[in-house]
Formats: sequence, structure tokens, C-alpha cells
Amino acid sequence: MASSTRLAAILQAVMQGMPKALSDSHYPGWHLAPVTGLLNDPNGFIHFDGHYHLFYQWNALGCAHQHKCWGHWRSADLLHWTHQPIALMPDEEYDRSGCYSGSAVDDNGRLTLIYTGNVKFEDGSRTAWQCLAQQNNAGGFDKLGPVIAVPEGYTGHVRDPKVWRHEDHWYMVLAAQNMQLQGRVLLLRSDNLREWQNLGEIAGSELGGLGAAGYMWECPDMFTLGDSMYLICCPQGVAPEEKRYLNSHACAWLSGSLDYQQPAYQHGPLNEMDAGFEFYAPQTTLTADGRRLLVGWMGTPDGEEMAQPTVAQGWIHQMTCVRELSSRNGRLFQQPIPELQALRQKEQHYQGRAEDAPPIGAQRLELELESQGDIELNFADTLILTWQQNELRLARRSLVTGKWTYRYWAGAARRLNILCDHSSVEIFINDGEGVMSSRYFPDQPALLTLRGRAELQARYWSLRRCMVE
Ligand code: FRU
Repeated sequence: MASSTRLAAILQAVMQGMPKALSDSHYPGWHLAPVTGLLNDPNGFIHFDGHYHLFYQWNALGCAHQHKCWGHWRSADLLHWTHQPIALMPDEEYDRSGCYSGSAVDDNGRLTLIYTGNVKFEDGSRTAWQCLAQQNNAGGFDKLGPVIAVPEGYTGHVRDPKVWRHEDHWYMVLAAQNMQLQGRVLLLRSDNLREWQNLGEIAGSELGGLGAAGYMWECPDMFTLGDSMYLICCPQGVAPEEKRYLNSHACAWLSGSLDYQQPAYQHGPLNEMDAGFEFYAPQTTLTADGRRLLVGWMGTPDGEEMAQPTVAQGWIHQMTCVRELSSRNGRLFQQPIPELQALRQKEQHYQGRAEDAPPIGAQRLELELESQGDIELNFADTLILTWQQNELRLARRSLVTGKWTYRYWAGAARRLNILCDHSSVEIFINDGEGVMSSRYFPDQPALLTLRGRAELQARYWSLRRCMVE
């Protein structure tokens, strides 16, 4: 499609779709979501020239995984976001099947995007190019074309470049699949973002002490935090266990140390990033004051996504809240950024038995709970958290079969911080030791009811709306 034709179609889709999406009772009140169509991965998250930029995989033309563009939001404070011009559209031969995920860097004062140009052929095969684009003076992006072809020894599933600066070089982690159909993460190096040298594989299925861990590791991200080098990735095809890896595709972290020269990444076992129903393809960035922030896609590909009721309103998916990462004893913790506290309205308290607590409006809510457990939190009869002594269990009915399905977090929860929006719940456990992120589609206004005789202490706030402008 010529870019002017595509742009005209996108404009029409936004004009027609936006009123319907924004008036849907499930449309978020303070999370980022598409104004119409489908959103998936966060891309190009960066603090640049005094602003945060967050790009996103966006199909404005419908709710299917097609026609991927890069949408673009900007914010000074991580709370109030503004729409920016579409950054990338699939209008070149080398990205014609989609401008897939990637990252952003500051290249000598120029905001520069590194993304995957995906090319699908009629016989079902594909190839991929890692491409550059640079911001122009009008705020749009000029494509500079492909800089990396599919490396020798890998299938056409090569994508999602995440680039960072270390000492005097640029480095990139890149998701790849080898000829034996095993997921791999490659490390590449460059002096100028244009010429890249493939240093080799640093992690993957049946590497570094891991067992079979999937056929493709999407959206890798690598960074130093505390004493550890973390690798976040989304291994597809990890076998489900009784209480872990239950989503259609997983998102996990590894912790270890990276020898950039060899290259060699010594790491421990895979750990699930989030124990809820929806979490995938997160991306991190560093703030000016040195904090490592993360945003994830509150969705999972391939599962029941297309059965979500918002599809009938012409939109699907949202981002997670922005989170701050920390490292404690080689383990990754996630907490909502303190900036979000500005959304809090009047503080309320409760102390006593769970079952005596008044029902709480869950529409837009932050709730801090302390207890020893044996409590049930019922979100509008649609999502139910059972807080046991040594386990949290989240229950939700399948949107396809209607049967109850479960997700688990193993451990003794003592403190929960729960952030609710119109159709999402993010449960932060023990100050970020674990998280469970899930969408749910309650009748509004949604009520949270507590059950059980156990004692608890609660502080809670209704949250104000914060719409993108
Ligand atoms: C992850 C992913 C990426 C790809 C993008 C396409 O959700 O499949 O690997 O770049 O989405 O939208």
C-alpha cells in the first residue's frame, strides 16, 4: 500500500474508531491503550531531550496482528502523555509486512530508532531486516534503511533489536532462531549504528545450563542493575508446568554476568517475570536520575486475545503501568513508579476482619494490604484472588470455554499493592518480589469485595483519570 493511501486509511480508522473506543466502559482511565485497533509491544522507550518517548506496535486498521506501525507518545512526567505523529509505517520493500519491535537511542543528539523490517512471502516463509530511522526537524522519522540482514545459520525469525551504549561501543541484543528451531539471543557490536558485527550467541534454549526453553526468544532486553546483568526475554514454546508458564507465551528474566569480549553470559535459571494472565514483551529504559523503568504489554499473543470483548468496540489491549526495577540479591523486583501516586485521591483506611470490610469501588483504585493471608479478594465476580499462607491464586473464567482457569504465585505474601483500572488489575507482591498482571472485563462500576475471617490492614485511594491528549 502506498504510504499516502495507508495514512488516509489510518486517519479514517481513527476518526471512526476513537469515539467508540474511548466511550467503552472497559477503556482504561489511566493506562495507555490504542485509540482504535490493536496495540502490542512497547517500543523505543527512552528519555531523550527532557521527555520520555514511548513507541508502540500499532495496527490502527483493525484488531488483528497485521499492518504494524510504530505509534508514538511523549511525556514529561510519565503520567500525562501526548500523541505524536506516527513514527514508522510499513511502506518500504524491506519492512512491507510490518515495522516490528525495536528500541531507540540518542545518536549524537538525534533520536534514532532501530527496528525490524518484517517481510513475509507468499509461500509462508519470511525474512527480516534490522533497520534504522532518525527523527527529522518536523518531529517525524526518516528511514535510513536496513543495516543487518539475517545472520548466517538462522531462520527468518530474527527481530526485536534492543540497543544500548557500553564504554565506547553500541551493543545490541537480537532475538533469533537457529536452524534446529531453538530460540537464541545474539549479541552484536557497532561503532556507528550502521555497521554491525555479530559477536555470537549469549543465551537460548539448551544453552548456559538451561534445558529445552522454546523455539524463539522474542523481545530481549539487557541491562546492568545492582551487581547483576539481567536479560529479559519472551521464550515461546516453554513447556507449561503445573503452576508456572501457563500463558500461551512466557516472559522471563535471567540474572548473571556478561563478558562483552567473548561474548559469554553466565546466568542462573529462567524466572517468570509476571505470574498473571497477561504480560509480554516488556521494554526498559534508564531515566536521567539513573532509575531503570519498565513498561510491558498487558496482553499475550496467540491465546484467547481475540475473544476479548473490546474487539467488538474496535480496540484491543493496553500497556502495564510504568514500573521501576530494582535488584536484590540477584533477583529482579518491580514496583509501580512513585510518579503514579499523583493519581491518588482521598486516602481511606480499613483495619479488621476481611469479611467486615466495606465493598470498595475497583474502577480506578490503588489498594495497599497487609495480612498473613487466608483472604479472598473478589473483583466483580470476574477475577478472584485467593491469598493463602504460601501461595496466591488468581482465578478467571476462560473467555472461550467459560471454565475457571488459574495462575499462581508461590511464596508467603505479606504485603500487596494492587492497581486497578477499568479492565485491568496489577498485583505487586511483597514490595515487588512478584507481580500478577491481568485484564478482566467486569460490568461497571466494578466492586471489590473481601472475604475471610483473617485480619488485614488496608489503605486505599480512588485514582483519577489521566487521559492521553
Ligand atoms: C512480540 C512480537 C515481536 C514482534 C512484534 C510484532 O509480541 O511478536 O517479536 O516484533 O510482536 O508486532
